[in-house]
This record gives sequence, structure tokens and C-alpha cells, in this order.
Amino acid sequence: MANILCIGAGYVGGPTMAVIAKNCPQHRVVVVDINEAKIAAWMSDDLPIYEPGLLEVVKAARGRNLFFSTEINKNIDEADIIFVSVNTPTKTFGRGAGKAADLQWWEKTARQIVDNSSHSKIVVEKSTLPVRTAEAMERILNSNDRGLHFDVLSNPEFLAEGTAVDDMEAPDRVLIGGRDTESGRKAVQALADVYATWIPRERILTTGLWSSELSKLVANAFLAQRVSSINAVSALCEKTEADVTEIAKAIGMDRRIGSNFLKAGVGFGGSCFQKDILNLVYLCQHYGLNEAAEYWEQVVKMNNWQQQRFVSEMITAMFNTVAGKRIALLGAAFKADTGDTRESPALAVCRSLLEERAHVVLSDPYALENARADLGKLADKVIFEPDPYKATEGAHAIAVLTDWKAYAKLDFARMFKSMTHPAFVFDGRNILDRKALFDLGFNVYAIGKPAMTHFENGK
Ligand code: NAD
Ligand code: UDX
Repeated sequence: MANILCIGAGYVGGPTMAVIAKNCPQHRVVVVDINEAKIAAWMSDDLPIYEPGLLEVVKAARGRNLFFSTEINKNIDEADIIFVSVNTPTKTFGRGAGKAADLQWWEKTARQIVDNSSHSKIVVEKSTLPVRTAEAMERILNSNDRGLHFDVLSNPEFLAEGTAVDDMEAPDRVLIGGRDTESGRKAVQALADVYATWIPRERILTTGLWSSELSKLVANAFLAQRVSSINAVSALCEKTEADVTEIAKAIGMDRRIGSNFLKAGVGFGGSCFQKDILNLVYLCQHYGLNEAAEYWEQVVKMNNWQQQRFVSEMITAMFNTVAGKRIALLGAAFKADTGDTRESPALAVCRSLLEERAHVVLSDPYALENARADLGKLADKVIFEPDPYKATEGAHAIAVLTDWKAYAKLDFARMFKSMTHPAFVFDGRNILDRKALFDLGFNVYAIGKPAMTHFENGK
């Protein structure tokens, strides 16, 4: 039996520890956070994040071998294995601002661990970090004069929000990086044994520390790069009457390319892609690899362009002005099945439309509270309406910005009747039946597809 602690009860710490506790009744798992409200929510049936299937997993282990607490110091001392899953956002100040990772929460945690430990421990990097962070971590932890030894492992998390439980239950791989020393190898083994309780050994990959840390940034860069690539193609499709969905299917059937992550849309969002690519860009620049830095930076530039291009298309289609027009945005979350709005393209579109003085109504089944907080002062100018039918009443246009399955099944005939005409639909996720909408009377614009309008010149 091991005492496992996770510092940071966010989108990663909460779900990962819940799945570990559920599958490993032999271990005691505690999750701590400085945020009292979040810990209280983890202890209730109203969890702090929306994630399908998560409540069931939490309930299966909570109170048995899964505990949530704000008592960080005491739990540090009791732990044998400590996962650190605190936030590592892009730095907003000083050297590396706008690209480098902000490691202040990370370093505070390292110091807190060493200050509150009375026996040696394994410390696991679960947060996404710049390559070679483990070296700094080791130096801080092992600079104690109490004879304590800390083994630092890298164990990046690959779960995606919305599918976090399934991703953790049956991951493509678990990656563990460690030092090639006797105690390093033992620590890797101890962590591998935890995962091997429910994950086949052949899926548990062990590497050196630096490869493990860097693999996480590279995995996200590759995934995001595919999205930016298909989005670049979508722009060309719109000019040439090619259809980006047909192209994605045609190229995706080539097994060398594969069919995943080829959905064109209004751009990628989420807390990871942009942050991790910019981190990679910063690392390349730091090592003087400017061409490599520029290559990866283009993925982010492409993404920003896609979001702005979408808004620009809306304005052009709606007779070059949206000022004073009610526009219903369906979706605030950065993807379906999550309430997370961090870096959501929906909010980027919302901000741009507000600048154009549109009257924006934002609708989402789970993300409106987060959207309101993220929009800050601008929230006063937005109407938040969870009911999509109410949101579209009187609107000149609907823009679908999150791929919630329910949006494809809405009664668009009912919406069309209640809207201002001519009525527009902008499908930023390619989830709607364009032809059916066109037949109802809508002017329909979708990413990477020819527009379908009732206007004379077809534009
Ligand atoms: P989050 O903001 O949801 O959670 C981080 C938590 O850490 C917060 O609740 C915060 O209060 C807590 N915290 C910060 N400093 C603390 C301290 N000193 N002591 C105790 N708690 C502290 O972030 P997240 O989305 O869970 O991401 C965490 C890490 O995992 C990041 O490095 C991220 O890049 C990485 N990651 C995220 C995802 C994802 O899908 N969100 C996936 C893979 C990896
Ligand atoms: C991502 C990584 O997938 C995950 O492995 C990592 O641990 C965290 O970052 P996440 O951001 O939760 O996960 O969701 P993901 O499914 O990767 O989607 C990211 C963004 O890309 C979303 O906005 C999504 O809508 C968009 N996307 C994804 C597309 O636009 N097209 C696609 O084909 C796939």
C-alpha cells in the first residue's frame, strides 16, 4: 500500500486521481488544493468541472481510498508518492512573457514539499513543463540538510477534456521518465506498478526524464499542427468550391496520415495547445533554433487567423455590418463535453463581435459560468442564455462555435421562424446539415465549404 498525494485539484489532478483511486483500492489517494471552494466541490455531488462519467468514478472511491483536502503540509508529510499537477500557464510578465511557462506555482510547491517532509519520497511531474524542469526540481528538493532523498519522475498527462475518464481508464500509453540510477529505476518501477493495476504493461513506456518532458510538448504540437493544417486548407476550399470534409476523408484514409484531428473548424482552443506550442517555441529560441521556433509559431498564428477569418466572413456576409444586430453564439466551451472556456475560440469570436458592436447572445449547456468569468468586464455587454431557442429569438444570425451533439438536432425550422430575415447560419464546427438549413430559408456558411445563399450572386 502506498500513500499517494496529488497537489492541484484541477482538470487533471481531480480526474486522474479519481481513476487511480477507483482502480487501486490498495492505495490511499489524497488530492489537495489551495482553493477551498474547489475542494468543497470535489467533496460534493456538484463537482467543480463537467466531465462525462466523472461523478460515478469519484463516487466509487470517495471516502474509501480517495480523499480531498486543503491540509497540504500534513498530507505532504504522510505521502510516499507526490504528483504535482498545479497550473503552468504562459508567463505574462518579464523574460519570456507571452511564450515561456510561468513556473511560480511549480517552484512554490517544490519548496513546500521539501519543507514539510520527514521521509524520502518520489515526486512526479504531472503538470506540463519545459524540458529539463526536473533538474531544477531535483536541485530544490535535494538541497535539504536532513538527509532526505527525492526521486523526480516525469509522468505527463495525455487525457483530453470531455473524454478524460475513458482516456485515463484505457490510455494509448502511459509515459514515465526517470533517471538511469538505481534509485531512479526503483522510482520508475514503483510508479509503473501503480498504473499496471489496470493498464497493460506494454502500454507503460519508460524513458529518460528529458524525453518524457519534451514528448508532452511535442505531442500537443503535433496534434495542434494537424488542426492548423486542415484549417489552412479550409480557407482554400472556400475559394475553390472544394469541400474540406471530403478532403479530410480522402487524405485521412491514407494510413500514413490517419483520420484523427482533421476536423476543420473555428480554430483550436483549450488550456494546452497554444500554451504548450508557445513553450516549445520559447525553448527553440532559447537554444538558438530560430527556424524551428518560427515553424511551430506558425501553428498558433494560423489558429488566430482562422478565428479572425471566421468573424470577418460573418461581417462580410451580413452586408458588411453587424452593429446593433443580435447574433446568437451556440457554444462557449472550447470543445463539446466540457464546461471549460480557457482559450475557447467561441470567446474570441464573441470579443470580436462585441468590438463590431453586435448584440451578442451566448448559449451553452455547461460553460456559461466560466464564460462570464473569462469575459470579465465585457460580460456586461453579453446576454447569457442557456436555452438555444430563446437565444436565437429575433437574431439575425446563428454561429455554431462548439461541437455539442445537441446542436445538430435542434429544431431549426422553429428558430428560423423566430429570427430576423434574411437569416444566417455560420457553422464553425461543420456539424449541421447545410442543405436542410438552406431549404428552410437560411443563408448558410460553413468552414471550408461553398456558401449556400438565397442571394442572386450566390454570395
Ligand atoms: P487547473 O488550473 O485546472 O488546476 C490546477 C490547480 O492547482 C488549481 O486548482 C490551483 O488552485 C492548484 N494550485 C496551484 N498552486 C497550488 C499550490 N501551491 N498548492 C496547491 N494547489 C495549487 O489546471 P489543469 O488544467 O488541471 O492543468 C494542470 C497541469 O496539467 C498544467 O501543467 C497543464 O498544462 C497540464 N495538463 C492539462 C490538461 C488538460 O486537459 N487540462 C491535460 C494534460 C496536461
Ligand atoms: C489536448 C490533447 O489532445 C491532450 O492529449 C492533452 O493532454 C491536453 O490537450 P484538449 O485540449 O482537452 O486535449 O482537447 P482536444 O480534443 O485535443 O481538442 C483541442 C482543440 O482542438 C479543441 O478546441 C477542439 O475543438 C479542436 N480540434 C480538435 C479541432 O478543431 N479539430 C480536430 O480535428 C480536433
